[in-house]
Amino acid sequence: MGVVASAPAKIILFGEHFVVYGEPAIVVAIDKRAYVKIESRNDNNLHLRSTTLDLAGHFERDIFKIERGSAREARIKFEPIKRALEKILEKHGKQVGLDIEIDSSIPVGAGLGSSAAVVAASAAAAGALLDVKLLKEDIFRITYEAERIVHGNPSGVDPAISTFGGAILFQMDTGFKPLDVRADVPLVIGDTGVERSTRTQVEKVRITVERYPRIVENMMKTAREVVLRAMDALKENDLETLGALMNMNHALLYGIGVSDESLEWLTNAARKAGALGAKLTGAGGGGCMIALSKDEKLQQVLEAIQRAGGKPFIARKTDEGVRIERS
Ligand code: PMV
Repeated sequence: MGVVASAPAKIILFGEHFVVYGEPAIVVAIDKRAYVKIESRNDNNLHLRSTTLDLAGHFERDIFKIERGSAREARIKFEPIKRALEKILEKHGKQVGLDIEIDSSIPVGAGLGSSAAVVAASAAAAGALLDVKLLKEDIFRITYEAERIVHGNPSGVDPAISTFGGAILFQMDTGFKPLDVRADVPLVIGDTGVERSTRTQVEKVRITVERYPRIVENMMKTAREVVLRAMDALKENDLETLGALMNMNHALLYGIGVSDESLEWLTNAARKAGALGAKLTGAGGGGCMIALSKDEKLQQVLEAIQRAGGKPFIARKTDEGVRIERS
């Protein structure tokens, strides 16, 4: 039978990139989840399989053997899961072999935090299977460490939101703060299908900051004001204001050079179809955009994004972080 756990994807609603320079960002968990099923084995090996990515392989101690798909891709995807499971096995005190099956509906490599969601769900499932008591705080730490070692993303936004769900305000110096949000944030998320690298995008911004420090400093201040105002709008369920603020945030991101043609197509198409606001989300340069829309316009916006060449889906905020689905 085994244990099944799940964890949600995320979007950055406001403040990406500026957050790297100390400004606040708002991150929201969305109702797209990664599911992980774990069963014990009779040997000591970790067998991993992703139905979504059509990858399979196993670790015999530290030796990885590929069974299906690209060995390189499998290692990158499976390594953080292995790290997290090792921590749980350490707490369990005995080496146990595990069968891990991943089934995720979160687009991969699009900035939606699919990796952290899979790792958080794996940690929770293994904990439940092996009777290792884990607080959410523990799952967050384990996921954060595993992700940091492999992906080197120090902000920890993805592990936090996958674990705790809801909406959080994140700032480098103060960390995470759960946000009081009355809005359920109806969104259409459009995947441009254009691959991008967070590292390259962050580097691009660094060059812009160095070249035009005084101008960018003012943009940073504006980005902060956008986030502060958005916190009120989220509390008051003021979707009109949120939409306007998303457009402003997108303009700032465009200004620092992280939009691209594909994102411009999709955000413009969404606005034209009646979205209250639209912006790129995450690193930019491809990846995903988000459009906020009243319920009655969601379908229209979705179709417009599709016609403009994107792969859209409808999503809402979820308060459900990592959870056990079946034990
Ligand atoms: O990698 P993504 O698309 O989830 O977003 C990265 C967000 C940045 O602000 C660009 C970088 C960061 O570490 O916060």
